[in-house]
Amino acid sequence: MTVKTVLVTGGAGYIGTHTMVELLASGYDVVCLDNFSNSSPEAVKRVEKIAGKRITSVTGDVRDREVMSRVFKRPIDGVIHFAALKAVGESVAKPTDYYGNNVGGSLALLEAMNERKVRRIVFSSSATVYGVPETLPLSEDAPVHPINPYGHTKAMVEQILHDWCAADLTCTAIVLRYFNPIGAHPSGTIGEDPHDVPNNLFPFIAQVAIGKRDKLTIWGGDWETPDGTGVRDYLHVVDLARGHVDALRYGFQNTGYRNINLGTGQGTSVLQMVAAFERAANKKISFAIGPRRAGDVAACWADASSAQQLLGWRAAMSVEQACVDGWRWQQQNVDGYRG
Ligand code: NAD
Ligand code: WQD
Repeated sequence: MTVKTVLVTGGAGYIGTHTMVELLASGYDVVCLDNFSNSSPEAVKRVEKIAGKRITSVTGDVRDREVMSRVFKRPIDGVIHFAALKAVGESVAKPTDYYGNNVGGSLALLEAMNERKVRRIVFSSSATVYGVPETLPLSEDAPVHPINPYGHTKAMVEQILHDWCAADLTCTAIVLRYFNPIGAHPSGTIGEDPHDVPNNLFPFIAQVAIGKRDKLTIWGGDWETPDGTGVRDYLHVVDLARGHVDALRYGFQNTGYRNINLGTGQGTSVLQMVAAFERAANKKISFAIGPRRAGDVAACWADASSAQQLLGWRAAMSVEQACVDGWRWQQQNVDGYRG
């Protein structure tokens, strides 16, 4: 069997690095394209070290035509498209940056793929496209109603991919709607590396545990949930990464457009997450209950049955394991890749 080559845009980022490890372990050749706007070349080196294999790393922007024609000079069998901006609050303040990068970048990528007749893509979407859930768990046929510019960019790219597949029945787009990725590779050498104050719960807790932040503010203790704090579907980033390899394999065997949720199907509250991290780190996490955060929902978790039926994928790792692995990464890399 000939070895397939996969282009991974945004491969140096949090989910991209973990996915490149799993791709290399599954026998793919990997070309990583990243502009390092939210990551570091060191992350790519660490992936090579974990996998014991080389990656072709290209520094550049998906919106740069010259870069893209250079990348697609080599034969590419399929693309996993992570490159995007991802901070919800920033997307409200700088919507044009978000539409430009996330939508414009995806269009530039598809144009380059069209030119070279590359017809398979796995796209990073998000549970954020569902907006405020009407019913739980969320299945893929729930209405798509994003409530911020970031979510709109994901919904727009989903639509573009849907139309791209409709125009050419030999094309495949697997759109993965992730719930809340957490944790790190068990080696402790790659993980999430926020450059600013973390917006997300898990890296914030990790920074409290390591002593970089005094305490966690829990955004609301009066939600309609069992303990009053927000409930989410947290999945280990290594499970998520393996889901991409499964989606890619499915994409090589099938054509057409598919939305697939990647989550565990289980809800965990903020207080439960704090308790799990305390057990993993054997430390107390200081917290205070604050006001609700604008745009938050009480609870959100996945119906992940499509992933199981179509891809044969299900989350195998627990929130406890993610806390152990995330804590290892935080301890070994106090200042992330800059340390
Ligand atoms: P990340 O910021 O760690 O990774 C994104 C990578 O893309 C970074 O390395 C960044 O430098 C690169 N990049 C950004 N714009 C680029 C461009 N124009 N050209 C080339 N490279 C570019 O984010 P992540 O958490 O790994 O997320 C990956 C994808 O998954 C994103 O599309 C994100 O929207 C989506 N997603 C993330 C989450 C989450 O909670 N982390 C949840 C759902 C969906
Ligand atoms: C989880 C829970 C907070 C921080 C976001 C994006 C979503 C997706 C994943 C990309 C909520 C609470 C958090 C804190 C807290 N990203 N919390 N104190 O909001 O579910 O999803 O990241 O696609 O688009 O919206 O994740 O980790 O920010 O919050 O109490 O300091 O933790 O209120 O209940 P969220 P999160």
